[in-house]
Amino acid sequence: MIRPLLLLLLLFLISSAASQPLPLRATLIDCGATSPTPTLQGEWIPDSPFVSSGTPLSLPFHYADPTISTLRTFPFLPVASSVTRSLSIAGLDYGKYMPTYYEGYFLATGKTMSICLGVNNFTDSGPFISALELVVLSDSVYNTTDFEQIGLSLVQRSSFGYDGPTIRYPDDPFDRLWEPYVRNGVRQTSTKNVSVSGFWNLPPLKVFDQELILPVLEQMDLQWPTRVLDGKSDCYIALYFADDQDSLAGQGPRILNITVNGVPYYSNLLVSPAGDAVFASKWPLTGQTKLKLAPAPGSKSGPLLNAGEVLELVPVKKKTLTRDVTALEKVKQNLPNHPSDWSGDPCMPDNYMWSGVACSYGRRIRVVSLNFTSMGLSGSLSPSLAKLTALTSILLDNNKLSGNIPDLSSLRNLEVLHLNDNKLSGPIPSSLGSIESLRELYLQNNNLTGEVPKSLLKPGLDLKTYGNHLSSPPASRQ
Ligand SMILES: *[C@@H]1O[C@H](CO)[C@@H](O)[C@H](O)[C@H]1NC(C)=O
Ligand SMILES: *[C@@H]1O[C@H](CO)[C@@H](O)[C@H](O)[C@H]1NC(C)=O
Ligand SMILES: *[C@@H]1O[C@H](CO)[C@@H](O)[C@H](O)[C@H]1NC(C)=O
Ligand SMILES: *[C@@H]1O[C@H](CO)[C@@H](O)[C@H](O)[C@H]1NC(C)=O
Ligand SMILES: *[C@@H]1O[C@H](CO)[C@@H](O)[C@H](O)[C@H]1NC(C)=O
Ligand SMILES: *[C@@H]1O[C@H](CO)[C@@H](O)[C@H](O)[C@H]1NC(C)=O
Repeated sequence: MIRPLLLLLLLFLISSAASQPLPLRATLIDCGATSPTPTLQGEWIPDSPFVSSGTPLSLPFHYADPTISTLRTFPFLPVASSVTRSLSIAGLDYGKYMPTYYEGYFLATGKTMSICLGVNNFTDSGPFISALELVVLSDSVYNTTDFEQIGLSLVQRSSFGYDGPTIRYPDDPFDRLWEPYVRNGVRQTSTKNVSVSGFWNLPPLKVFDQELILPVLEQMDLQWPTRVLDGKSDCYIALYFADDQDSLAGQGPRILNITVNGVPYYSNLLVSPAGDAVFASKWPLTGQTKLKLAPAPGSKSGPLLNAGEVLELVPVKKKTLTRDVTALEKVKQNLPNHPSDWSGDPCMPDNYMWSGVACSYGRRIRVVSLNFTSMGLSGSLSPSLAKLTALTSILLDNNKLSGNIPDLSSLRNLEVLHLNDNKLSGPIPSSLGSIESLRELYLQNNNLTGEVPKSLLKPGLDLKTYGNHLSSPPASRQ
């Protein structure tokens, strides 16, 4: 079987200069909180400026991590339902509720990122989130990943032979969490001379303080990552090693052959006191994973392991064209009682679209129609509607919209415009007549004034204007 993989070995012999931890370049959001929460990472701010839906909630329990005690819950919307939106919160099972986290790495492309929480079919309660941390990485971290195409989703990150509290900021410059892992070996703490600045992924120096080690020339078997992976995933795997200088001087070289599920991962790794990282940028994993570290021929010392990371490669889906998203956000801002699901990307994920919005999923994802019929919308029509240039139909009939009809002549593909049964006022823009594709223009039962523009009196356009305060159209000569 051919396995696509890329292995690289880094060896660094740079002296370490002890330095102050840099402040975390991060946005820390404490969901459901009403006031800022200071922690070692920095100050967590309430989520209200970033979210327009969901319900804030406080838990009646004490957690060591103060950001866990408040959260934001969202209504349960089964994946298949499109428009039924219940606002009641299905009971969270607080008794069984244990904090957990998800970590992923994605390319930031605009000024904002949108996070979408959806339910899968294993749950019958709505999604919730306690805290959201956005950290800016430096360029070399996980830089073998093409982040234009791929995101990374954490499977497990471990500090081997370590049993203290989870290692994170300020030890880790990006607040990545390194969980203790103490099984299958002897724990050892030893002095090293590692310089982490040489490692592209910048692991915390602290993970090199201790290791899992076999004091005999035998093979070390680990079930790691601990989680059984469902399905088949391509993963990024990085392993970190640093030899104890004393043992090296006493016994002789420590040389490792490493296999993952029986497949050679790296051969003849001479572990140095300066530290080594070995990584595969795309390695297929499925089910349980067996990691084997065997002494290679010539090795005089048993195997050793300091730290490891496994991240799953997830293909990045496209986003809706930014110009459409920006324009639709402005349209939404003028409609104060819009549906609660109008947040995040309007078209993506494609089974979690904004209600009433339809999109095309070609080379670029565009908003092609708005059907906001009878949604009880009040407010006015933003002139930004005219920037949604892929629109073919706009159905806003039977709402409570007031104000003027904006100039929509830039919508060159618009075929259907229903603004009837609202409270729109002012004149009918004559520029509507310049939209050649327009075939249905329903303006009846509003409070429009002035004359019906001559430009609209043309064959092929179904125009309805009754029920307004329009003056009679001028007589035209045949
Ligand atoms: C650490 O490594 C540097 C560079 O290789 C070396 O100059 C220094 O003597 C080492 N320190 C110790 C304590 O071994
Ligand atoms: C969840 O949905 C998937 C795909 O629709 C299906 O294959 C799976 O059996 C479902 N699982 C459960 C627990 O209903
Ligand atoms: C990753 O970053 C390191 C350190 O800056 C650099 O030497 C290396 O070429 C980079 N690799 C890729 C694939 O960009
Ligand atoms: C270690 O790997 C080398 C090179 O692949 C191989 O020749 C050797 O037999 C391996 N040793 C063990 C103990 O697996
Ligand atoms: C628009 O939405 C309404 C309400 O959901 C629906 O009844 C109607 O069929 C939709 N119209 C079109 C053209 O899709
Ligand atoms: C219609 O417009 C006129 C003049 O602009 C205004 O006086 C009147 O209150 C409006 N009527 C409704 C029902 O909005």
